[in-house]
Amino acid sequence: MATHKLLLLPGDGIGPEIMAEVKKVIAWLNARGGDTFETEEDLVGGAAYDAHGKAISEEAMQKALAADAVIFGAVGGPKWDGVDYEVRPEAGLLRLRKDLELFANLRPAICYPALADASSLKHDVIEGLDILILRELTGGVYFGEPKEITDLGNGQKRGVDTQVYDTYEIERIAKMAFELARTRRNKVTSMEKRNVMKTGVLWHEVVDDVHKRGYEDVELEHMLADAGGMQLVRWPKQFDVIVTDNLFGDMLSDVAAMLTGSLGMLPSASLGAPDGKTGKRKALYEPVHGSAPDIAGTGAANPIAMIASFGMALRYSFEMVEEADLVDRAIAATLEKGLRTRDLAGQGDAVVSTAEMGDAIVAELENLSA
Ligand code: NAD
Ligand code: IPM
Ligand code: MN
Repeated sequence: MATHKLLLLPGDGIGPEIMAEVKKVIAWLNARGGDTFETEEDLVGGAAYDAHGKAISEEAMQKALAADAVIFGAVGGPKWDGVDYEVRPEAGLLRLRKDLELFANLRPAICYPALADASSLKHDVIEGLDILILRELTGGVYFGEPKEITDLGNGQKRGVDTQVYDTYEIERIAKMAFELARTRRNKVTSMEKRNVMKTGVLWHEVVDDVHKRGYEDVELEHMLADAGGMQLVRWPKQFDVIVTDNLFGDMLSDVAAMLTGSLGMLPSASLGAPDGKTGKRKALYEPVHGSAPDIAGTGAANPIAMIASFGMALRYSFEMVEEADLVDRAIAATLEKGLRTRDLAGQGDAVVSTAEMGDAIVAELENLSA
């Protein structure tokens, strides 16, 4: 039986509240026997800025590099609106992604049967939905240089961000898209804007090329990203795996979140390349949503995206597929019983707190494995 080392980074806002619910799941797994988890905790985001003057300390970075997986809550909030760009809370998350080389961000959007009426879209459109957005995470406009605001000296300033992609960055994310599609419904939709962007032209060309070199059994379609956003809302079930760049992936996954009923439902896994010797990937697991400052401290946060992100850690970092399935089934069963945090509740539904939802999921883990 193995012991896995986790670094927990709860962060800001609702981050610590939803992390508290993951800790219950970890404690349940540890008590159950089988593989166990050793956890360490550190600060990130605004909490780290308040303590150290930067969004992640060097010590915490070292712990992240040494951990088998990082479990991340959320960062940011109005308290840090005025701090310098380089040390703002979000910079801690970007540094983790970059330094751990987490180039692939898997964002599955699954509509649990019990929530088919919780979305703002019609039941038919989202019932049975199971799609995967694969977002490139270490390139594009998030990291391209120059990235600056310059004073033009004539009373004007100029803000510049640079979208850059090299062939190898597109190749590795495209390969991962095809590999993942083979384990699902065997279809990849690649989204870019080659009608206006040079990176889009290259993206399209490289994805086609990777497809021809060993993945022709997988169906490939290309779609302009703006039209893709529209299609996601019109008929999302046409998709299986969507592969796209860093910025489009950010936006399209928030759109996809609403197909599942709430932004509080979408988990994610950020993965690096397999290590040459051990075959292990560096990994960070986090919900797609942010620190939700508007509801922080009220017990209204939905912990499901966070718990499901830990479920993805079981699946992708620790080969604990049975346990990962169990977590998904426990979430489904809890929703089936009618438990709803405020974001999921319809008119007349009783509302449970973050902790009550976490406790109910742990109780279902126990039920389902009895
Ligand atoms: P947000 O995702 O924090 O919130 C958007 C809306 O969704 C809010 O109304 C919020 O209450 C709701 N929401 C989000 N998660 C929820 C949950 N688990 N349960 C119930 N409701 C939930 O996005 P925002 O308000 O645009 O950003 C707030 C801060 O979070 C910003 O500082 C932003 O940079 C940061 N952010 C961080 C991450 C991250 O850490 N990965 C991701 C996105 C945004
Ligand atoms: C996300 C967030 C982040 C992003 C921010 C907080 C840096 O929106 O993970 O979706 O833009 O990637
Ligand atoms: Mn986002």
